[in-house]
Amino acid sequence: MWRLLALLVFAAARTSAAAESHWCYEIQAEAPNQLCLGPSNWTGSCQKNRQSPIDIVTSKAKEDQTLGHFIFSGYDKKEKRNVSNNGHSVEVTLKNDNIEISGGGLPTGYQATQLHLHWSSEMNAGSEHSIDGKRFAMEMHIVHNKKVTGTSKSAKEAQNTGDDIAVLAFLVKEGPKENEGFWPLVEALAHIPKPGMDTEMREFSLWDMLPKEEKLRHYFRYQGSLTTPNCDETVVWTVFQESIELRRDQILVFSQKLWYDAEQRVNMTDNVRPVQRLGDRTVFKSQAPGQLLPLPLPTLLVPTLTYLAAGFLR
Ligand SMILES: *[C@@H]1O[C@H](CO)[C@@H](O)[C@H](O)[C@H]1NC(C)=O
Ligand SMILES: *[C@@H]1O[C@H](CO)[C@@H](O)[C@H](O)[C@H]1NC(C)=O
Ligand SMILES: *[C@@H]1O[C@H](CO)[C@@H](O)[C@H](O)[C@H]1NC(C)=O
Ligand SMILES: [Zn+2]
Repeated sequence: MWRLLALLVFAAARTSAAAESHWCYEIQAEAPNQLCLGPSNWTGSCQKNRQSPIDIVTSKAKEDQTLGHFIFSGYDKKEKRNVSNNGHSVEVTLKNDNIEISGGGLPTGYQATQLHLHWSSEMNAGSEHSIDGKRFAMEMHIVHNKKVTGTSKSAKEAQNTGDDIAVLAFLVKEGPKENEGFWPLVEALAHIPKPGMDTEMREFSLWDMLPKEEKLRHYFRYQGSLTTPNCDETVVWTVFQESIELRRDQILVFSQKLWYDAEQRVNMTDNVRPVQRLGDRTVFKSQAPGQLLPLPLPTLLVPTLTYLAAGFLR
């Protein structure tokens, strides 16, 4: 009898230890009978001081002329891709697609491996980054975590510089029109309600889901971390100023069709890490938003020449 009891106690202790050591979002930690670790108890590098996300204070962002435009490759490729419920988000696999970025002030090219999102059912609570204290409905992260080799940097220099991973962050807000480009993902959600499930999406390209390329010249840049454990401080963040717009119902589908747990007790929503202290870091910006560009020479020259020519011919 005592042995059985001891065994039971031991088993119970083991289960709860295992559950407690698993990380989760605040909304899960607050749910009844949950023993997971919420954001304030995340381990690994999560309690260090170069963490993400952050609030971006636009008036303090420092203009950096080296933050030029990005070169996107493979973003136009239309493919069927798999999407899974990984228990924390929905993740679209991009590994085998040769999708790459370079430029944008990055030290090298990077290859994309996956994209995923963060969201809420509240239109002002689903983004991880905030801009001047304002949060958005969702945030999409395109994770490029393979450096494209063949740069001039020596292997040693390329190590431990905190730029192993380049994440492009797109803020999503509610708009009046349906976003056609998001349907392949939104439709797939009903097929992956529980963690561990995956499904094939119908054909789409990354550009289908993103703002127009010419609108991606304005962005913020800082050094930070992954926003999930172990919160490695190895991320070069790019947060674009131009946001994606989805219709309200398209945003709400995420909170309605997805669950954190196999028992479908807690809707997958508010999968958002709270903002972290900026500390001694600087946020850079590509260019002052709305700043007047110097007029290109031909726009001045052509009228002048026309005027002169007209005068000469007269
Ligand atoms: C997590 O941290 C909070 C303090 O932020 C503490 O009150 C709570 O007991 C901790 N929970 C666990 C499971 O360790
Ligand atoms: C999706 O996953 C299935 C099995 O999990 C695999 O057979 C298939 O090739 C994958 N499709 C793509 C486009 O990666
Ligand atoms: C949770 O899911 C149910 C079932 O889809 C839905 O009715 C409810 O609105 C969801 N809750 C939130 C906060 O979206
Ligand atoms: Zn993310």
